[in-house]
Formats: sequence, structure tokens, C-alpha cells
Amino acid sequence: LYLGLDVGTQGTKALLWEKETGEVLGRGSVGYSLTSTRPGQAEQQPHTWVEACKEAIADALDDAASMGTRGDAVDSRPGRQSVAARVRAVGVSGQQHGLVALDKDHKVIRPAPLWCDTSSAQEAAELSQLFGFTLVPSFTATKLLWLKRREPQNWERLAHWLLPHDYVNFWLTGRLCMEASDASGTGLLDATTRSWDMERVRQVDERLAASLPPLIGPTEAVGTLRLEVAAELGLPQDVIVAPGGGDNAMAALGSGAVREGTWVLSLGTSGTLFGPSSKPVLDPSGTICPFADAAGGWLPLLCTLNCTGVTEEVRLTVGKCLDHDSMTNEASVEPPGCHGVTFLPFINGERTPNWPQATGLGLRPGLMRPGLLYRAAMEGATFTLLAGMQRMKDYGIAATELRVVGGGSQNKLWRRIVADSFQLPLRFPAEPEAAALGAALQAAAVHTGTPIADFVEAHPPPMEAGVLQPQHTTAAAYDEAFRRHQRWGACLFGGG
Ligand code: XUL
Repeated sequence: LYLGLDVGTQGTKALLWEKETGEVLGRGSVGYSLTSTRPGQAEQQPHTWVEACKEAIADALDDAASMGTRGDAVDSRPGRQSVAARVRAVGVSGQQHGLVALDKDHKVIRPAPLWCDTSSAQEAAELSQLFGFTLVPSFTATKLLWLKRREPQNWERLAHWLLPHDYVNFWLTGRLCMEASDASGTGLLDATTRSWDMERVRQVDERLAASLPPLIGPTEAVGTLRLEVAAELGLPQDVIVAPGGGDNAMAALGSGAVREGTWVLSLGTSGTLFGPSSKPVLDPSGTICPFADAAGGWLPLLCTLNCTGVTEEVRLTVGKCLDHDSMTNEASVEPPGCHGVTFLPFINGERTPNWPQATGLGLRPGLMRPGLLYRAAMEGATFTLLAGMQRMKDYGIAATELRVVGGGSQNKLWRRIVADSFQLPLRFPAEPEAAALGAALQAAAVHTGTPIADFVEAHPPPMEAGVLQPQHTTAAAYDEAFRRHQRWGACLFGGG
């Protein structure tokens, strides 16, 4: 059995994957919130993730134990301990970019500012000038400079720093290190060589070089469980801890997207679009993040800040709190293009394009029906992602198939909007927790010594039956609405 953990922004998920059957035998999930007491702030205490991992693992083990009793004779009940005894390796996926600042005794100095914390916008603008490409405030380098400027006492104490999933790896094994898929979200990794860019590091601060975590390769185990952690979790001490990775790289594995052409579109709190590439993509505009993947290649990615949060906002404000199904039913009777209503979905500011001050707009009198606005919000969020795909094409990389994941992918109308506006066939991974599954698959690959892409191809994640083909009849209406979205956005907020 292999354990996959996904340490997300809203909660931590655990799942137990069985290699022989390819099935998920048990799951656990623990929610938490983030602190936001001033505009731009989004922080979490790293110990929250550790506690959530413990609880989610215990729940997954119990779930697998109870599954063993379903339909079986009671005397074959495996029990939590015998399930735990079968676990061979664990992989950790994590929300990217967050800064875990540690002192010389490895104690957490302050809560971690997360990927969605925009407090470091000023530092991001300065570093973009110095580095020669646009760095949005999500990137960890901007948070390090922010710490140095705004909290000099905490900066003085900084001896080590990690990203969220590395911090969980550190708790599991006692080893401080980073791997490239997540390290490329710091803004300090040379994506081409997958090594630290020492010039950029020094541009943040001369002292930073000494605090850089060592980098490990995509197939290198971080270690095995610390004795006390193994005892507390009830797992064997020789359980291997795989390198893990950023949640997007892990979701690529868990969606089976390991070869060029197969991309993932995630409709979650953030919207992301990414696909494996045999070459790094270095986009000075910052639209495409220069990420490494978890298989030794690259994962050009774009991330928007306004996706399912926008449809939720419409539901709460104009939908009189109808549920999402009712809103979707009303939205289904509205036509593609929404009679010319352009919902610019940038209610949280935006990162892609780099419009931190952008707002939502584009309404017209007589056309403010809840269903129409709900549809317009789905279209708007989709079009921002579609614009990113056009940018990827400029770099000579293109998708032939999209695998759609995230909460929004459960909405049948949103699926149709994506297929028709992207004009691509869609498939839907059956496992909703693609990142946690990817982490479990990586754990299994490292344990069995198999290259990860080969392993994923030999154990493809299950897909829902069928492929959703794009309809050509609506392509022109979406194209017109997409151009309107692009024109209005650029006209109001600039070139991006
Ligand atoms: C990617 C990004 C988000 C987080 C969400 O650059 O910031 O997708 O990883 O957890």
C-alpha cells in the first residue's frame, strides 16, 4: 500500500492506494482555514498541516480497515494496524510557494505566507526589475524579501526555509531538502539546470545562500520515517518518504498527464492549466510559470486567482443562495456568449494576467438574471485560462487533450463551456483527489525503483467513461465572447 497526502489551502487529504488492484482503499480529509486580517494577507501555521496529516492518515487507515469488512466475513476484518503494516512508502503533495521560515533549531519563526498572499506585491515588482522577468507575489523569493524588509527581527532569526510539502517531509524524516517541481515556484531556481540561481539568490540577500535547502532529484527518497513519527502514526519505521512535489506536478501524475500533449485544467479555488514539456518555458511576462515537473522534465503552468470562487460569489450575492445545481439549471437556458454580457472575473485582483488591482465588470441592464450571471462567470473564468493557452501556443507547446479536475469539473455545463471554447476533447479523471493520488503513485514508483512516467503509464489513473468532444456549432459564439473578454480586460487593466 502507498500513502498519498495532499496538503492544500483549505485542507489536507490522505489516500491509500493499492498497487496490485490500482484501487484507493481508504481516504481521510481534514479541513482548516487561513488567517486574513488585513488586505492581501493569507497565512497558515505549519503545525496545522502536520496535525491535519496525522488525523487524515488515521482516518484513511480506519477507512481502509472498515472497507475490508464490507461484504467480507467479519473475521477477515483487517484492523487499522494490519492495514498500517502494509504501507511501504508515502508521497506528499503541497500547495506551492508558501514560505516556511525556520530558525537555527528548526523552529517555525512565524506563520507561513501562502501562494495567495499578495502582501509582497511591492517586493515582487522590485525583484521583477532585478531578475528581468515578471515575478508575481505568489513566488517565495518575494516573500523572503518582504520578511527582510518588514520583519527584520524575524529575518535575523532565519536560518532555513522550506515550502509547505518540504516542511511535512521534514516532519516525517528530519531531513531539510527541496525537489525541483516545488522549488521552481520560489523564483530562485534556474529551471533549465534545475539548480539554484545564485545570482538571483544574492539579489534577494547575500545571507540567503547559507539558508538554501539542498535539492534532491525526482526519484530520490527523502529518507524513512523518524522513529517517533512512525510510532505516532502507527506505520512501519522503514516506510520510505518520496520527494513529493508541488500540488500541480502531483496532480499531473494523478491525472495520468505524463507525456507531451496531454494537459490538465484544474477548476478549483485557483484555476490552473499545465502540461508536461520536454523543454523549459521561460516567459518574461510571467504568464507562464517556469515550473519543473516531478518526472525530470518541465511543466509550464499558468494559474489564475479567480475560478470557482467567482461562481460561488455570484451564487451568494445574486442567486439568493440557491444551490449550485439550481444555478446551473438556470444558466443552462442562457446561450453561449450570454447575450453580450462579459463577466470580467477578476474579483480577487488577478495574477494571470498580472493585474493585482483588477476588479470584475461587464454587466448590462436587463441581463442580470442569476442564471445568466452564473453562466457569464463560468465563461469569464474559462476565458482567462484560454488566454493562457494561447500564450503557451506562442511558445510552441500545445494540448491535444485536456484532463479536467477540481470542484468546477463536476459541473456538466462548465464541462461543455470548456470543451467548446477550448475546442479540445476533454477527459475526466475518476479520482477527485488527483494530487494525493499522484503523490501515492510517486511513492510507489520510488519504492519499486521505476521511472515515474513509466510507472504512471503502467498504472494509469482511472478515467470516467467516454470523451467529451467539442461542438463546432458554438465555436464562433465563444470565440466572439472570448475576444470581448480580452478586449475589455486589456482596455481596463492594461496589457497584462
Ligand atoms: C500555482 C499556485 C497554486 C497553488 C495552489 O502556481 O500558486 O496552484 O499551488 O495550491
